[in-house]
Amino acid sequence: VSAPTREAFRPAMHYASKDTWLNDPNGLIFHDGTYHLYYQNNPFGNVWGNMSWGHATSTDLLDWTEQPVAIACDEVEDIFSGSIVHDAGNTSGFGTEYTSPLVAVYTSAYKGSSQHAGIQAQSLAFSTDGGYTWTKHDGNPVLNRNSPEFRDPKVFRYNSPNEAYWVMVAVEAQDHTVVLYRSHDLKTWDYLSSFGPANATGGVWECPDLFPLPLDGNEDQLKWVLTVNLNPGGPNSGSSGQYFVGHFDGVTFTSETTVTDGMQDPLRLSEYQWLDWGRDYYAAVSFNDAPDGRRLMIAWMNNWQYSSAIPTSPWRSPMSLVREVSLVTVNGQPRLSQVAVWEKEGSPTSTVAYEELDVDGILPLDGGAAVQLIDVRFVPGSAEEFGLIVRGNGAKGTRIGIRPGDGLIHVDRTASGNTAFHESFASMDTAPLQSEDGTYSLRIFVDHCSVEVFAQDGQVTLTELIFPAPDSVSVSAYATGGSATVPSLELTSLA
Ligand code: FRU
Repeated sequence: VSAPTREAFRPAMHYASKDTWLNDPNGLIFHDGTYHLYYQNNPFGNVWGNMSWGHATSTDLLDWTEQPVAIACDEVEDIFSGSIVHDAGNTSGFGTEYTSPLVAVYTSAYKGSSQHAGIQAQSLAFSTDGGYTWTKHDGNPVLNRNSPEFRDPKVFRYNSPNEAYWVMVAVEAQDHTVVLYRSHDLKTWDYLSSFGPANATGGVWECPDLFPLPLDGNEDQLKWVLTVNLNPGGPNSGSSGQYFVGHFDGVTFTSETTVTDGMQDPLRLSEYQWLDWGRDYYAAVSFNDAPDGRRLMIAWMNNWQYSSAIPTSPWRSPMSLVREVSLVTVNGQPRLSQVAVWEKEGSPTSTVAYEELDVDGILPLDGGAAVQLIDVRFVPGSAEEFGLIVRGNGAKGTRIGIRPGDGLIHVDRTASGNTAFHESFASMDTAPLQSEDGTYSLRIFVDHCSVEVFAQDGQVTLTELIFPAPDSVSVSAYATGGSATVPSLELTSLA
């Protein structure tokens, strides 16, 4: 039995930097055949600080290559979160005769030595070599509200029948408000409207996004989705993200999701729409210009509650898997449905499959692995609770359980491995889960330090960090208070 080593937690299927700290994904864009993932990065350490934009590239959203730091902090400013657009028409004038520029819109968090000390305002940098080297615009900042908490601009091209222009969504974080601006050249911005406070406001609003999606795949039924990250105040405490579905007319976002006045009321949390119910899916934003009109999102897989204490070294914090989101009707309401991108061309996999299992108590299974995909269906029977124990060692491990009578699913990581590094890490995190036909399906991605649970075809997701011993790789099915049936179960080893 090998002793757990810290580097052993390095994920196989998720991005983590080589030896530094990261948080929010930034500047997500698909350009010239490459996906670019920039991120909040401390180039000099593995706790938050010296905020700069780190950079990684990928062609399949799974294998990422770390690149040199893209936009570095200096004595005047930290480089906080933001986005990148391809300025195909060179509206900004940053392009050359031969190349249209990529333009980064980021938050300047001004330091004491700056004339804007204490202010957060929006600034530009541009790249004419496809996103590898960046030059700061000499007219920064380009949008300043003299606010200490104005940040996280997401910019996209808005095309109306008459006009095309750039739209920015950003936050006044403490006011729980998303503010919208318009520009024709990315340098001059006009105020359009604001949204909020609304629904969950138990913490600051950060990293918003706004994008269209067809409802049930029907292009005639286009809806707009506004996502807003929230810290703290998530459904299972700490950092999380909520979303609103509605209408955007080029000026104003109007929510069709029921909106409350934004007063914090924990008993109402289950009424809101959460991007993910787990503890470790934060600062989720989507890629610009993804191929085939796909809406791809990625999040920081950590929680500000304990982020700097997680027991990894020399790196700290992974990203989630990338998810394709779509909008489907559930119980008459538009809801996000999420599917993880995980298939790698030519990568070897081995699958162990079971059919028609009867589960009563704990049933150990063959085929457990440290990195794997599990697809399982359950029919409740008489059991009060049933589910799987993954990254296990006997009855210990991470429990993913469903209590059909209560309409709940949970991830219990109290016995998941190392939980002692922070008092709020060991947790049992719960989400509402319904079944229309009496069966429950789960798709679970297991990696060296995480589980991502996609229930009922991705209508409910729970993303959680775990720190199991390297040799805790068993998988068991379990049922308590009666028996349950498993019509099908597949364990696919992925590394
Ligand atoms: C969200 C956040 C952003 C900010 C960045 C700083 O996690 O607080 O609002 O831009 O992190 O690193």
